Amino acid sequence: MDKFVIRGGNPLLGTIKVSGAKNSALPCMAAAILTEEEVILENIPQVQDIETERKLLTSMGAEVELGYGRAQHRTSIRCALLSDPVAKYEIVKTMRASSLVLGPLVARTGMARVAMPGGCAIGGRPIDLHIKGLEAMGAKITQEHGYLEARADRLKGAHIVFDKITVTGTEDLLMAAALADGESLFENCAREPEVTDLAALLNAMGAQIEGAGTSTIRIKGVAKLHGARHRINPDRIEAGTFLIAGAITGGDLNVDCCNPEHLGAVISKLEECGVKLEIGADNIRVHSGGNLKAADVTTEEYPGFPTDMQAQFMALLTQAEGTSVVTENIFENRFMHVSELNRMGANISVSGRTATIRGGAKLQSAAVMCSDLRASAALVLAALVADGESILDRVYHMDRGYERLEEKLRGVGAQIRRMGEVFGKK
Ligand code: EPZ
Repeated sequence: MDKFVIRGGNPLLGTIKVSGAKNSALPCMAAAILTEEEVILENIPQVQDIETERKLLTSMGAEVELGYGRAQHRTSIRCALLSDPVAKYEIVKTMRASSLVLGPLVARTGMARVAMPGGCAIGGRPIDLHIKGLEAMGAKITQEHGYLEARADRLKGAHIVFDKITVTGTEDLLMAAALADGESLFENCAREPEVTDLAALLNAMGAQIEGAGTSTIRIKGVAKLHGARHRINPDRIEAGTFLIAGAITGGDLNVDCCNPEHLGAVISKLEECGVKLEIGADNIRVHSGGNLKAADVTTEEYPGFPTDMQAQFMALLTQAEGTSVVTENIFENRFMHVSELNRMGANISVSGRTATIRGGAKLQSAAVMCSDLRASAALVLAALVADGESILDRVYHMDRGYERLEEKLRGVGAQIRRMGEVFGKK
């Protein structure tokens, strides 16, 4: 298993580019199931989860071409014939977002068989709201041998009020409603930019969706959707991770090809900590304004502070003067990074969904274990300021959602390598 070796202490300087958003690309690739025509997606990140989605769609009979060379961030998908509308456990167990094919499959073919996603490091993460919504649209859903089977001659429009705000739940049912018979009204929807991005693609495919990005969405179902070309949003979580990399190393970093509008809560929290930011149209320059100040963070649904930035921000707060309190409201078990950060000399205590960070810690290098995608990013950030050389194990977690992370960071002065590569002397 690959490891990262990181020598801390270098301020990051220069320009670092943000890739397309993994959490937009996955639902947009699943949306191609809704038409037999070609869907072309641009700005697709080259990360492991995209490769898994390609395998998933191909296993059902789709033709998926991931670009290379100059077209390396373009993907062409054609689901002319879905010979085997089954999302197999072997694939689903590696990526929960596979359940995003449930709605599109039953809407397009009248039948879907999807392995139930098991537990996850950060929480139980049930998909009961996906199921409840599809049943409200008339699907008959049974569960057998770890698989969900959904059947419907044609889904019907429905009025759905989500019991809880769910990102992929909103996306899954949006795709189902696009081909349903009649009008749907969704309330208490997720407002994440990834939902808006998916709706933009679906409307380009001929859907009639209004209100995406707000908590109330109206969908007029249509009989057929056609092909389209769509550019995926930049990854706001990757951009946020780089902003913290610039701030925590005391560097001067230009985070380029991002959308600052999607980072409102992260930007204001960084400024509260005393970080200097210059906001451009599609870039943000971050340069630390001297000592970092403590701040309290509470994760919320968008436009609140994103749970996918919680771990990275905690790494920053270990370097701030004073005590900060971080409250995780979205997932019940998203503090796996705490014990690893404490192994590096941080001073963090956890009680239920609250972590208390006593800042000003001088971090030391250590061998640490990555546990999930964002926790891993927090360990990279901590290692960038730690004294000495840290070894991060199981970096495959990071490869799922960060494109060529070590190359990008090395490009702005970080001393990071994937185990096995020659390491340049200081
Ligand atoms: C999406 O997951 C993202 N994944 C996650 O990013 C992100 O953390 C999460 O939204 C919250 O922002 C993708 O977009 C692929 P939810 P999702 O449904 O949709 C509960 C990353 O790091 N819930 O909004 O699975 C659930 O347990 C990943 O890139 C139900 O109870 O999250 C959670 O507590 C990690 N029943 C809450 O709702 C349901 O049917 C929010 O989950 C669905 C969700």
